[in-house]
This record gives sequence, C-alpha cells and structure tokens, in this order.
Amino acid sequence: MKITKICCIGAGYVGGPTMAVIAQKCPDIKVTVVDLNEQRIKDWNDPNTDNIPIYEPGLSEIVAEARGRNLFFSTEVDKAIDEAEMIFISVNTPTKTYGKGKGMAADLKYIELCARQIARVAKQNKIVVEKSTLPVRTAEAIKSILDNTGNGVQFQILSNPEFLAEGTAVTDLLNPDRILIGGDTTPEGETAINALVDVYANWVTKDRILTTNVWSSELSKLTANAFLAQRISSINAMSELCEKTGADVSEVARAIGMDSRIGPKFLKASVGFGGSCFQKDILNLVYIAKTYGLNEVADYWEQVIIMNDHQKRRFSNKIVQTLYNTVADKKIAFLGWAFKKDTNDTRESAAIYVADDLINEQAKIAVYDPKVSKNKMLNDLDYLETRPSADNKDYLNAFDNAYEACKGAHAVAILTEWDEFTTYDWKKIYDSMHKPAFVFDGRNILNPKELEAIGFVYNRIGS
Ligand code: UDX
Ligand code: UDX
Repeated sequence: MKITKICCIGAGYVGGPTMAVIAQKCPDIKVTVVDLNEQRIKDWNDPNTDNIPIYEPGLSEIVAEARGRNLFFSTEVDKAIDEAEMIFISVNTPTKTYGKGKGMAADLKYIELCARQIARVAKQNKIVVEKSTLPVRTAEAIKSILDNTGNGVQFQILSNPEFLAEGTAVTDLLNPDRILIGGDTTPEGETAINALVDVYANWVTKDRILTTNVWSSELSKLTANAFLAQRISSINAMSELCEKTGADVSEVARAIGMDSRIGPKFLKASVGFGGSCFQKDILNLVYIAKTYGLNEVADYWEQVIIMNDHQKRRFSNKIVQTLYNTVADKKIAFLGWAFKKDTNDTRESAAIYVADDLINEQAKIAVYDPKVSKNKMLNDLDYLETRPSADNKDYLNAFDNAYEACKGAHAVAILTEWDEFTTYDWKKIYDSMHKPAFVFDGRNILNPKELEAIGFVYNRIGS
C-alpha cells in the first residue's frame, strides 16, 4: 500500500516540525497539518516563514520549501481526515489536573476527541498513527472508539513515538537514531506497518527502522524519557554532594562519561530539567505502575521527579542565602527563561519555579530571553496560581537585551544555556551592577576564572 496523503492532527512542537520534514523528504505525499487553534494555523501560514509559531533552527527554511507544494496547514479537520489514507495524532496529552489520577495520569480527552472525529468522518479504511506520547495500551482504547463509533470501515492503529528533542528537532528528524513503529502482528497490521516504514524509508536507512508490537512501542517512549531524565537527576544528586565535599561535578561527569558503558551524554548538572515531556511522562509511568500495584517500581521512578524539584528549590535557596538571607526589593536578573537553548518553549522550565520562589521572597525579577516574550513569562507564573496575576506583573519585568536586564541588579542567574550568554562583555555587566555582584550559573556555561578576575562572586552547580 502506497501512502499519497497524510493528515496530522495537532500543529504543535511535535506535529509541525515532523510533518514539515516528512513533506520535504516525500514530495509525492500531500501532507496536511490541522489544528483547532485558528491563530496557530494562521501563524504557520504566515507569508514570512520566520514568523511561524515554533522556533527551531532550520525549520523555517524547510517550511518555506515545502509549504504550498505538498505541505499545508489548515483548520479544516474533517476534510483533511477524509482525504488522507494515514492520520497522525499529535495533540498534546498534559498531566490531568482533575479527577482520578490528578497530577499524575495523562489527560486523554484530546486523544479521545480525535478518535471520535476520525470515526465520524472516515468513509474509507485508514491507518491511524499515535505520535503523541501515551500511556501503554492507549491504542486499544483508540481502536475501540474507532470500531464502535465508525462507519464500518477498517482502522489500523500504529504507535510511532517521536524522539526529537526541541532545539535540535530538525537535525533529529533528518537523522534519527531510530524510528520506532509498533503495530498489530496480523497481516493487516503488517501492511500498515510497512506503509509507514516506506514513508520513512525516503530518508532513513532500513536498519534504523525498528518494528515492534504496539505496547512495546508505547512503553519504549516512556522508558526512554524516564532513563534520560534519570541521568540528569543522578548527576544533579551528585552535584549537591560535590558542593559539600569539594569535588567538581563537571570533572566527575567527564570521568564517568568516558566509561563507554555510561557514555558522555545527558550528564550535565543543571538547575533542573524542564520541558513538556520528562516530568509528564515519568508521572504517567508512576501512575501506570501504581495502578498495577507495583509500588516499588512507582517509588523508584518518582524519585527522579523529587530530585528534580529539590534541585530547582536548592538553586533559589542558594541565591537567597548568598544574598545575606534577604532578597526583598533586590533586583535579580535572569538570563534565559526557555527550558533549554534554541527553543521558545517554556513548558516546565526551571526558570518559572526559581522565579516563583524568589518572588515569594519579594525579589524583583528582570528577565532577558532571546526568544520568549514577557507575556509568556507572566502566563507561566500565573499558571502556578501562587499569587494574583497583578502581583506577578509587579515583580517580573522583561528586557530586550541582557545588559538592560542586568543594570543595577544585585545578582545575575543563568537559567538557560543560550550560546550568546558566553559572548557578552561581562566587565560591562559587572560595572553596571550593585556590589558585591553575584552570578549564579544554573547551567555551568560561564568561565569561573574570567568572572572572578572581573570581580564577580561566582557560583555554579556542583562545585
Ligand atoms: C507533544 C506530544 O504530542 C505529546 O504527546 C508529547 O508528550 C509532548 O509534545 P506538542 O506538540 O509539544 O505535544 O504539544 P503542543 O505544542 O501543545 O501541540 C498540540 C496541538 O494540538 C496544539 O496546537 C493544539 O491546539 C492541538 N489540538 C489539541 C488540536 O488540534 N485538537 C485537539 O483536540 C487538541
Ligand atoms: C526530550 C527527549 O530528549 C526527547 O527524545 C523526547 O522526544 C522529548 O523529551 P526535550 O525535552 O525536547 O526532549 O529536550 P532535552 O534535550 O531532552 O532536554 C530536557 C531538559 O533536560 C532540558 O531542560 C535540558 O536543559 C535538561 N538537561 C538535558 C540537563 O539538565 N542536563 C543534560 O545533560 C541534558
């Protein structure tokens, strides 16, 4: 079976870039990305592709090449479902904020809505691909909805988790370590798997395309994220011990990373991991384990989150303690608000929690982030519901450049590892600040010797 038309529901951080790359690499396939959010679709269709709603290096060029040729962004969901042979579901699956599993389980209401819509519209057989990260056995629920509410047509459900990391989405998509496709072991299931394998085979060699059963595929995604996050919490746990013992966590990371069994990646101690996936997926894993009565398994993975929360809080406590136990009315400059460099995404960013703690201490926060707007920062704080929105506005200000943000500040905190921060004239920043001038490097990106020579009191994670 050869796919000629693809529809993707959800034009977010996963759906948008993934479909742009599929369209670029498969010019014979018409790819339509749909979303309920009209503004988002409008932004994807902005004539100037630098204004598309997601910032990822290299993405705007790909959209410029494929959009209007075989890549389309639209709000006409029914039409796109109707004409496609293959439908990707890429809607968000946030942690539940209500009811059973509140704060832990994945909220599947959007997934269910998509399944019902596909069932209602489809008049021919379809392959439905789960791209969103989902609890194990969600495919079963989707299948049941499709089979019981549909028009008698056949559906095949595949699980095809996305492993791209934000900030490197385009290179990850163009050159993935592996593509994972889970499907039924029936002949129809295998035909569907092969149809999706053929799409990826346009640019990924077959030895990197792995096929499994649906549940292995679903669980592999949660497992991958849990393992990655676990490495960060492990090194962050060591960072606290390093601070007490005089060891340096960067040296420890380097030493253990050279062991080929451990490897050097994901060993960077930091103010704590953020992003839309790690916390959500681990909480989801913990919830699933608990529902099966596997309490030791649940507790084991939950500790990764507990350590991460501790690391964020430890960073804000360190700032308060170092500034003579009071930050009330002091100006603290934040460099970075995004959860990592090269993205405008702020979901679960450590910066939000650190700012929240410091505002509780009545500090004034002055933020500069190259890609995040003040509105987004305020929304992030409001979402925590710690205090009225008007108060957040009083305590947080954003600036167009770092020099302005740091002027008159008592301390500078690095929250995101944006490359440009390492290229600044730090002497100029020092001269404009209150003395003693402190730097709290939550990403260990600055050069301690250089900053200390200028006169800064320099703190980093884990030394
Ligand atoms: C992704 C994955 O899909 C999720 O499973 C993963 O774990 C986190 O990342 P992401 O692309 O980052 O989600 O989410 P987001 O940027 O919020 O995009 C989802 C889009 O789906 C939004 O634009 C939203 O408007 C759209 N949507 C949501 C629909 O079109 N229909 C719905 O019913 C729900
Ligand atoms: C992650 C997974 O890497 C990706 O495969 C999956 O599809 C989605 O979730 P993402 O959240 O986009 O991707 O970014 P990632 O690079 O994994 O970083 C997550 C967080 O961990 C960031 O806040 C980052 O700054 C932090 N991090 C990462 C560290 O603190 N130390 C490290 O060594 C690596």
